[in-house]
Amino acid sequence: MNAPRIPAPGPVVNNPVASNPVASKTVAAGPEASQAVPGAPQAEFLLRVSDLSVAYRHDGRVHQALDRVSLDVRAGETVGVVGESGAGKSTLGRAVLGLVPVTSGAIRFAGQDITRLGRRDRVALAAHLQVVFQDPDSSLNPARTIGSSLAEPLLGQRRPRAEAAAKVAAKVAAMLERVGLPAEAAGRYPRQFSGGQKQRMAIARALIVSPRLVVCDEALSALDLSVQAQIINLLLELRRDLGLAYLFIGHDLAVVRHVADRVVVLRQGRVVEQGSAAQVCEQPAEPYTRALMTAAPVPDPAQERARLAARVAELSAPPGPESPGPGSTVPGGRP
Ligand SMILES: Nc1ncnc2c1ncn2[C@@H]1O[C@H](COP(=O)(O)OP(=O)(O)OP(=O)(O)O)[C@@H](O)[C@H]1O
Ligand SMILES: [Mg+2]
Repeated sequence: MNAPRIPAPGPVVNNPVASNPVASKTVAAGPEASQAVPGAPQAEFLLRVSDLSVAYRHDGRVHQALDRVSLDVRAGETVGVVGESGAGKSTLGRAVLGLVPVTSGAIRFAGQDITRLGRRDRVALAAHLQVVFQDPDSSLNPARTIGSSLAEPLLGQRRPRAEAAAKVAAKVAAMLERVGLPAEAAGRYPRQFSGGQKQRMAIARALIVSPRLVVCDEALSALDLSVQAQIINLLLELRRDLGLAYLFIGHDLAVVRHVADRVVVLRQGRVVEQGSAAQVCEQPAEPYTRALMTAAPVPDPAQERARLAARVAELSAPPGPESPGPGSTVPGGRP
């Protein structure tokens, strides 16, 4: 995937949270807001997506990628987004990040309407809302040192004075160490590192501005299984230590089940089911979710959709006379 980066935030601020009205409200909500019950006051939600629709125009045709999608993310919470290829998962993440225009509906962050922010407000918001994409190279400039790429969200295009530059360098070094890399990596180039190390750097770049919410779009999908496990642990640790919330978009349901508190299931741009990760993953109410949970991975998206549709039809059909008895145990509950 080669998605564009969200704009870098403005100049260094000692406490970007305190100096920004969006973040101040977020802080006021605090991590305890993650304990909020459904129906609690809006301020307790970090992100509220309400009836969101996004349509793409392509070759004179309109494709409805999201159709009245609603979901919430509370402070400190991880919400997983799953669904077949083309279900609209990335579109949802991109709409939250302001990377695709919204047709209708609303996106609120820390109580503020961010559905259609102007460039300047979007830049300010980037200090609180960040992204980690599947491909770390999309956020690391190959021609710049790691230190320079990590400093950019803090500095923008400014050339800092010596004292400020030293502060930023110290922050970069601390952030690199926080994500499990040596501080000396700052002086090296992305090509000198493995995929897993570069994903750690992309995470460091996202976190250096102290965001409250990080959209992770297939952030682990390009990594080997053993490296995935390490990055999952890192994301969980960072969440615990920094009180982060994640909107965690993923294909691998086992991974999503492991990291998410709640899971939202998308199909053809619509929410078909949402609930606690345990409930959605272990006792899915919808045939589509059950099909998704038991589907073997298929590399070709069209083939994946066709297989899922067949499985959903099978799971949705009322039990026929030839159905096996309750002793038959086939994954998904039906033959
Ligand atoms: N820029 C675009 N122009 C036109 N159509 C698009 C564009 N981006 C996405 N789409 C279409 O919108 C739908 C949703 O795409 P999206 O990338 O959000 O799916 P996804 O769930 O992230 O899929 P995947 O699991 O493959 O990443 C798809 O049918 C896709 O082809
Ligand atoms: Mg996607």
